[in-house]
This record gives sequence, structure tokens and C-alpha cells, in this order.
Amino acid sequence: MIRPILRMGDPRLLQRSRPVADFGTAELRRLIEDMFDTMRAADGAGLAAPQIGVPLRLVIFGAADGRPNPRYPDEPPVPQTILLNPVLQPLGDEMDDGWEGCLSVPGLRGLVPRWRRLRYRGFDADGGSIERTVGGFHARVVQHECDHLDGILFPMRMRDLSRLGFTEVLFPELAGQAADD
Ligand code: NI
Repeated sequence: MIRPILRMGDPRLLQRSRPVADFGTAELRRLIEDMFDTMRAADGAGLAAPQIGVPLRLVIFGAADGRPNPRYPDEPPVPQTILLNPVLQPLGDEMDDGWEGCLSVPGLRGLVPRWRRLRYRGFDADGGSIERTVGGFHARVVQHECDHLDGILFPMRMRDLSRLGFTEVLFPELAGQAADD
């Protein structure tokens, strides 16, 4: 079921979410299914549970079809992932600036610094452990989604707000397929 996505200005997006305590439940599966329905309907690269008003440490991202996301056609595909109670550990101190959008900040893109490489750990829906070392766009997506669990939206990470703008102005070539971003 597609759920409404909260937009910037809603105080629920600024809250710290609580850890998932019960794995493998029917309720959790339904929530994850709704999150995928909602993310796909919006062509999102990822979605965090608080974006649909559920204050749990749960994010999804990536695509099963191995194709780049239509909102980020120049970025490499990210494997489809369900990640609960994530812990991120930057590797090295290098950061890269990259353009980000957010389904909760529709129509805008901003240049955001993120760790270039990181290790992340967490759990899948059944409580199985996940541990990956990633870089580039994959690392960026994980950092963006996990920030939502601490009530942080991408503009709050920006160092230069002159690099925040409307997607259709910054990237006119994306206007057709990502008009509402
Ligand atoms: Ni977002």
C-alpha cells in the first residue's frame, strides 16, 4: 500500500527514531512492503520509516532490477537492501560533495558532503546480520537514509546553501522524469 510521504516542515521528520525490537513479525513485513510500494511509486532511491510517519530505525534503498534509479540516472545501481538498526562507521576522513534530493523535500536538490567510504552494519527483516563496506553513491544513499533516523534532512548537512535549488532549474534534463522529485 502506498503511504503518504511526510514533507519538510513536519516535526515528525525531526525526531530520533527508536530501534526495531521485534524482527520477523507480520506487522514488520507489512510495513516494509508499504515502504517499497511508496518508494517505487515515487521513483525514490531510498526511503526511511519516519518518512511515512513510523518512528523506527528502518531504511530501504536500491533496486532489484539492477538498473540506475531514474531520479539519478548517472549514478551506478545500488543493490536492494532492507536495513534495520543500522550503525555507520566512516572509513578514512575523505568526504565528497554530491547532489541529493529527498522525497520529503520535493522539487529540490542540494550539494551535500558525505563520507566517501564507510562500513555499515545492521539487520535484515528476520534479524540476520548485514555488514558491508561501500563507497560512492551507495555510501551516499546509506548516509542520507540513516540521517532520517536521527531527524536530519539533507539541507541540514549542507555547507553552502547557495548550492540548494530546484531540480528542474539545476537539471533541466531530468525535468521530464523527475518533475516532482
Ligand atoms: Ni530523504
